[in-house]
Amino acid sequence: MSNPKFDDPGKFWDEKFDRPDYRYGRSPNAFVAQTLPELIDPGQTVLCVGDGEGRNGVWCAEQGFKTTSLEPSKVGTQKIAALAQQRGVELAIIHDRMTDQAVQPHSFDAVVLTFIHAPAQTRQQLHQACIRALRPGGVIVLEAFTPAQLTNNRPSGGPPTEALMFTPEMLRDDFADLTIETLTEEVVQLDEGPGHRGPADVVRLVARRGEG
Ligand SMILES: C[S@@+](CC[C@H](N)C(=O)[O-])C[C@H]1O[C@@H](n2cnc3c(N)ncnc32)[C@H](O)[C@@H]1O
Repeated sequence: MSNPKFDDPGKFWDEKFDRPDYRYGRSPNAFVAQTLPELIDPGQTVLCVGDGEGRNGVWCAEQGFKTTSLEPSKVGTQKIAALAQQRGVELAIIHDRMTDQAVQPHSFDAVVLTFIHAPAQTRQQLHQACIRALRPGGVIVLEAFTPAQLTNNRPSGGPPTEALMFTPEMLRDDFADLTIETLTEEVVQLDEGPGHRGPADVVRLVARRGEG
């Protein structure tokens, strides 16, 4: 079924990000900030997929990670560049969707995905491209909303459709080729700009590619 949000995510998110403030704030996602420094060292490479307005990518660059932000929204990429300039850090910015053409396979020590919700086929293709982007031994760090976000009527963000929410079982399947190091369902307190604020039902994943 055609859906402009996924057929042309750049256009859809251009409209969402075309505002003076940052929809999801300027600070990194808490799970990313807590987890990533335990997984990789400064100088190693990070790809932030669907980096939105750059809160995670710019923070990664501040930690000394060699950071690439990939984002299909042009407005998003402009806000990423502006935030990086304000903070005095450098990062590479790719204006595209996540595909093997956009990103060189086997080139990142970590791939970060926060709240990149999509229908099953798009989600699986995107997650496969993320796996291929990893170097041997590289890690995926992911956070997304679960269906409980809808059943609990949380006003703290996320898509309005259950089919777009993530479950631990889905992630176990999508990342079956990796070793799952963390996979938890949690109720967390989001404080991520006006777009994500308040109690939220999320799933959090760390998964590692084998060394072979
Ligand atoms: C809810 S926003 C989250 C933005 C950011 N990750 C954050 O947490 O602040 C979803 C993001 O996914 C991006 N996105 C959607 N489809 C994508 C795709 N196929 N490849 C890469 N990014 C995509 C959108 O452009 C948007 O920036």
